[in-house]
Amino acid sequence: MAKAKKKAAKKKAAKPRASQDAIALLKADHRQVSEWFEQFESTRSDDKKRKLAQQICQALKVHTEIEEEIFYPAFLQATQDKDTHHEAEVEHDGAKKLIAEIEASGPDDDFYDAKVKVLSEYIKHHVKEEEQRGGMFAEARDSDMDLDALGEQLAARKSELMASA
Ligand SMILES: [Fe+2]
Ligand SMILES: [Fe+2]
Repeated sequence: MAKAKKKAAKKKAAKPRASQDAIALLKADHRQVSEWFEQFESTRSDDKKRKLAQQICQALKVHTEIEEEIFYPAFLQATQDKDTHHEAEVEHDGAKKLIAEIEASGPDDDFYDAKVKVLSEYIKHHVKEEEQRGGMFAEARDSDMDLDALGEQLAARKSELMASA
């Protein structure tokens, strides 16, 4: 069974396609996670909640990692905007604590829904900081960052992290 699964995964390894630039890739991650948060809120099934929360936590861990490893340092170097950079890093740290708590618990925990809800609000705020007018992504677009090259690096690192998860 495991073998068959592996084979199928291998077969699916797609040929290189036109890649997204860094900001398009990060924004697509944001949309995906907010869709899952909405689904979490609208379901009553504990199984679905558990599954969605796992997906959300996993995706956020990969997303924050690729931002911290690749995008944020490039942003800091290009813009020298320490305030924006450091705030984003601190917000990631806060999110990671909640993610760890959610991963360590489950729908039978009385505080589970509250934790997911607070994480969702937290992420909404952080995404706004990144995407709003004059925010980090807008600043990145105005800088001389090579967003296409960074997009490729982000995509490569993302699939590496997802494969090892
Ligand atoms: Fe982000
Ligand atoms: Fe971020």
